[in-house]
Amino acid sequence: MEIIIKATAVDAQQEAARIFRRQIRDKPDSVLGLATGSTPIGVYALLVEMHRRGEIDFARVRTFNLDEYVGLGPEHPGSYRHFMREHLFSKVNVAAENTHVPDGLTKSVPAHCADYEESIRRCGGIDLQLLGLSRDGHIGFNEPSSSLASRTRLKTITPQTAADNVGVFGTAEKVPRHVITMGIGTIMESRRVVMMATGAPKAAVVAQMVEGAITANCPATVLQMHPSCMVVLDEAAAAELKRADYYRWVYANKPEWQRV
Ligand code: GLP
Repeated sequence: MEIIIKATAVDAQQEAARIFRRQIRDKPDSVLGLATGSTPIGVYALLVEMHRRGEIDFARVRTFNLDEYVGLGPEHPGSYRHFMREHLFSKVNVAAENTHVPDGLTKSVPAHCADYEESIRRCGGIDLQLLGLSRDGHIGFNEPSSSLASRTRLKTITPQTAADNVGVFGTAEKVPRHVITMGIGTIMESRRVVMMATGAPKAAVVAQMVEGAITANCPATVLQMHPSCMVVLDEAAAAELKRADYYRWVYANKPEWQRV
């Protein structure tokens, strides 16, 4: 893992956006794995800005989102398709047919999940996957106890996750209990991963993810096994890391050709 500690959340968002800009410039038909939640919103805003300035072109980019609520259609304000349209898809020149979000209204969840996996394969696999981190260590919606080898499938979220994701739903009871999520095995096949976490409430789970033992009890710990995972943090989220000084040293000494 490469641990990048930035002073503020905005600095962390800028670092992540620069990594995506470099990816798209290096490979204009990149396959991007995208995430929802509050953490990536600033990254999407920066990508929109870079697009406006003519620095990145999404014309050939393909995207796959991590997850979606079962029972919600694209027009529902709580759906992740809606979120993506609002924060990114409607603001850049990505082709609608090149954007993929699991279909919350599918008639057959298992068949749709198999199709989703097949679409990722047909596109050549995910080049760069953006991830957020929940307080219980889930990635996508792979809650604690998820198989570390899992593929895209139905999951039942925890009561805490429902409470954390109240947003437009108003109350935790109204948050759908079932979701379709890429599996941990699916996520692990991405060529590169950018995991982002900002803010003090994430400090404990960040320390566990980076420095704890690998366990399905904290799914994000599996990223220690990923061959190319960047963890982009702000100081608040990095506060409980024991080796923070070493991570800073590595970043300060990063070779010029590796910088974005
Ligand atoms: C949801 C999403 C995750 C996201 C998490 C954290 O559970 N399915 O992909 O990482 O929320 O969200 P936030 O960034 O708002 O803390």
